[in-house]
Amino acid sequence: MFTGKGGVGKTTMSVATALHLARERSVLLLSTDPSGSLSSIFNKAFHDTVVSIERNLDAIELTRPIILNLWREKFGEDVYRVISSLLPVDRGILDYIEGVPALDEEFMLDYVLEAKRLKNYDHIIWDTAPTSSTLNLLNIQNLFYSHLGEAQKLYLKMRGVLSRLKGGSGEEPLELIARWRKLTEDILGMLSRDTSTWIVANPERLPVEQALSIGKSLSGFGVEIKGYILNRIFSEDVCAESEFLRKKREHQIQWRDRLIAGADHKLKIIHEIQEDATTRDMLVTIAHILYGQPQRDLNFS
Ligand SMILES: Nc1ncnc2c1ncn2[C@@H]1O[C@H](COP(=O)(O)OP(=O)(O)OP(=O)(O)O)[C@@H](O)[C@H]1O
Ligand SMILES: [Mg+2]
Repeated sequence: MFTGKGGVGKTTMSVATALHLARERSVLLLSTDPSGSLSSIFNKAFHDTVVSIERNLDAIELTRPIILNLWREKFGEDVYRVISSLLPVDRGILDYIEGVPALDEEFMLDYVLEAKRLKNYDHIIWDTAPTSSTLNLLNIQNLFYSHLGEAQKLYLKMRGVLSRLKGGSGEEPLELIARWRKLTEDILGMLSRDTSTWIVANPERLPVEQALSIGKSLSGFGVEIKGYILNRIFSEDVCAESEFLRKKREHQIQWRDRLIAGADHKLKIIHEIQEDATTRDMLVTIAHILYGQPQRDLNFS
């Protein structure tokens, strides 16, 4: 999973990583960023489906409609049956439920889980939406989990009354809640057991502060932090000729050092490059920096 503040280079690093891993293993590159840039980078139309990019590499941009469809397929009918057995509602109720905050976020994670189970990819590279919504995505799982537990208890208390009212056994809502709760449990398991994260930042105050704060939160969720990527720092030689750039770099170094001090993890440094960072050559070069020789000397730039 690649996370970090908006615009810091998450998609660039995700694509570089996917290309790198796909040389030997099967990879799904998945973007849950609503502004998804994968179609521009690969110059392909995605139309809500998994697209084959090259041997070993598939990609998909997940959008809200795909996610809500998934929810309807998995739970929509059952939810409708249970609610309509208790209240005088028509199917329009499902449109209303789809507006529930975080339902789509939960099902984005479910999609990742299914892709992992069904398609047998060796790696899923997940290019997330900027920090706050990613955290929301994780937070919400814990909330769902405890709310569904409460729903189960409440339903058990009311089961007698409800089953008399509707004349059924009253087992279906319980089964539905249990199934949904299991899904949430599986998602939490996937996040804590099988997920590791790169946190991307630029050498400026807000991206660095957000990177450190997301690092703390993710560790709290039990998600493994693979490391931090400091992207777009100016190299010393490009600053030689310009007072403006020299000053800029001094400022960047301050935030680089702040990241080094706060992050007791591996740090990778990618310089600001003058070329277009979306070309294949540049992406391969970036992957080489990320996964080639380990950078021992953090002050190399
Ligand atoms: N090292 C670099 N040097 C120069 N340009 C870069 C570098 N890394 C990324 N870029 C460029 O910066 C822009 C933002 O990068 P990218 O789209 O990867 O960020 P992001 O974190 O995915 O953004 P968003 O939060 O909007 O999804 C892109 O135009 C990308 O090509
Ligand atoms: Mg992006």
